[in-house]
Amino acid sequence: MTQPVTLSSRDGVAVITIDNPPVNALSPGVPEGILTALETAERDPSVRCIVLIGGGRTFIAGADIKELEAAARNPESGGPDLHPLLTRIEDCAKPVVMAIHGTALGGGLEIAMAGHYRVAVADASLGAPEVNLGIIPGAEGTQRLPRLVGVAAAVEMCVSGRPIKAPQALQMGLIDRVIEGDLLTGAVAFAGEVAGQPVRKTREKDDRLGSASENAAIFVAGRAQAAKIRRNQTAPLAALEALEAATTLPFHEGCKKEREIVRRILAGDQAKAMIHIFFAERAVARVPGIPKDTATYPIANVGIIGAGTMGGGIAMACANAGISVLLKETEQAALDRGLAAIRKNYESSVKKGRFSQAVMDQRMALIHPQLTYDGFDKVDLIIEAVFESMPLKKQIFGEIDKIAKADCVLASNTSTLDIDEIAAATSRPRMVIGLHFFSPAHVMRLVEIVRGKHPSNEVVATSLAIAKKLGKVGVVVGNCRGFVGNRMMLPYMREAQFLAEEGTTPEQVDKALTDFGMAMGIFAVDDMGGIDLAYRVKQEYAYLRKPGERVPLVLDKLYEMGRWGQKRGAGWYRYDEARAPIPDPEVHALIEKTAREAGIARRGITPEEIIERSIYIMINEGARILEEGHAQRAADIDVIYCTGYGFPGYRGGPMWYADTVGLKSVYARVHDFHTRYGHLWEPAPLLKKLAEAGSSFAAWDETKA
Ligand code: NAI
Repeated sequence: MTQPVTLSSRDGVAVITIDNPPVNALSPGVPEGILTALETAERDPSVRCIVLIGGGRTFIAGADIKELEAAARNPESGGPDLHPLLTRIEDCAKPVVMAIHGTALGGGLEIAMAGHYRVAVADASLGAPEVNLGIIPGAEGTQRLPRLVGVAAAVEMCVSGRPIKAPQALQMGLIDRVIEGDLLTGAVAFAGEVAGQPVRKTREKDDRLGSASENAAIFVAGRAQAAKIRRNQTAPLAALEALEAATTLPFHEGCKKEREIVRRILAGDQAKAMIHIFFAERAVARVPGIPKDTATYPIANVGIIGAGTMGGGIAMACANAGISVLLKETEQAALDRGLAAIRKNYESSVKKGRFSQAVMDQRMALIHPQLTYDGFDKVDLIIEAVFESMPLKKQIFGEIDKIAKADCVLASNTSTLDIDEIAAATSRPRMVIGLHFFSPAHVMRLVEIVRGKHPSNEVVATSLAIAKKLGKVGVVVGNCRGFVGNRMMLPYMREAQFLAEEGTTPEQVDKALTDFGMAMGIFAVDDMGGIDLAYRVKQEYAYLRKPGERVPLVLDKLYEMGRWGQKRGAGWYRYDEARAPIPDPEVHALIEKTAREAGIARRGITPEEIIERSIYIMINEGARILEEGHAQRAADIDVIYCTGYGFPGYRGGPMWYADTVGLKSVYARVHDFHTRYGHLWEPAPLLKKLAEAGSSFAAWDETKA
């Protein structure tokens, strides 16, 4: 094995190079290697100055997350201990210059800040993204960062987790120079300039720590920002507490306080949940039966059929990734509408400063609108996004089967239909797969990759690769009704309606759900998706109902009243110009009247019951899906819910949340609801089995690994 850290010399400057591909994470061996190299260089009388640089594509991108996961399991350990190394770097008698390219994030930034100087290439990023994992900078980062950049900037970086580019870092005082040209050459030249000068220790710097009154206002604003952008999350508040300590305590005391806070935060549920989701998002690409080296078809251009809501969004997702798109419609008016929607969307991004007009023009130029299949014989992937109708989809697949080249992947964006039946309309079912994007498709990160009986391994692997190329998370799911996400969504939506009939209001249900952490309440979601759509789905699946089964009653009435949701200005809520949901007494009266007529006794319902009934019914369905093998892992379901359905990442997804509550308790409530409400609550056998064995979904996943 090659050494992860090497020492060389250039023009009297010692160069410590970290070589721990792919991202120079601080895995075991790296901190030790840095320490040894530093001490050797310090002892060497020919060395006047030391440069620390990353080999390969980046500086130290961060901690080794596997170590953080281990720390979350054993919070008393406090995580990987970088403190002795940081002190040693800062106490080095010769100037240490950190030379940064790629990213210096988390632990990488903390090491950089212990150096006496920092230089970086212009496109390097520096940041403290720990909040994204539910933790805080834990290697003195909360104590050094405000000393370098000031309290307000440190608060912003730690609460948002957003990295900054080198030029901004220079302005803020985080780095000392932006290097043009070769980084090592520039860093060595810089080292030559500072050699022989007394070293400056970040920990001794206190001119940017502000006054008590200035800081009080900054922390109030920081807490308000945290509540807004990271609702219910403990990590940003913990980071603020540690930053506050930097402003009131001497450095070493501040570090002690930081360590205490790290232990506390690692012991909490949120860090564990967010670290779980981090790994789960990476694990989804490992699909049983699809070896890592499975060949993939190159995808350079795509044909999309249908320029409606989804087709337009998918076209943008492709163009955003630099992929050229043929976008086909049946009539000019629909094509014009579709293209106008795309243009409007891009224009709004340009207005908001997300990207320039030139970028927009490039993206628009990649989308080729047309009314024919011209050129579809040359594309590598065709995605069908026409109306949700089996006869229409079969007709389309019959047509493209005649045109597409032999190695073209044929995908449907269906949200509910049987992908095998669609594939049967072609002469090559092994090339057919479901690519279920979520609306708005250029924003939402989830793609369910629906694997029916037929697709070849190469087609599955290509689908995973295309999701990645589009910057999305592709999760392979089975070909069952509603696949994974929508299949769990239906009982969730139904139960929420039962709760309303039994005594709550849509807004009480939605408030309990958003307080729990869901991005939106389920009734607001229903209004956004359209009551007409929910009604059609309900009608379509009516044949699946068992005799005497309870059905929600109000939805049909809203449909008949034309209250089709946001698009009609009224659904479960009323909507104003800003599309904000407004509780509507007319709906309350309708719900009460409907319940009365159906003989449903109304009572007070607590937020706890709302959460248990709406979330546990989802979990119960998830357990069924798992047992049937339509999801490969409980963690896959968690990824689907956190990336596609607004489930809070800090709860780790529904299955992880069930483990956190304890499957025994979840099962006991499901069992209880089954006794009270009948067969819709019949416990999933897997839930029962795991609960009775004192096990968890995570443990079940491990048996499958
Ligand atoms: P949409 O009604 O907005 O768009 C469908 C478009 O297909 C229309 O513009 C129509 O003119 C066009 N079209 C119909 N027949 C065509 C043909 N033969 N050739 C070319 N274009 C044709 O529908 P939407 O919402 O975009 O849905 C499309 C598909 O995506 C459906 O299967 C739906 O279930 C699925 N889906 C929808 C989601 C949503 O949130 N709207 C989410 C995920 C999947």
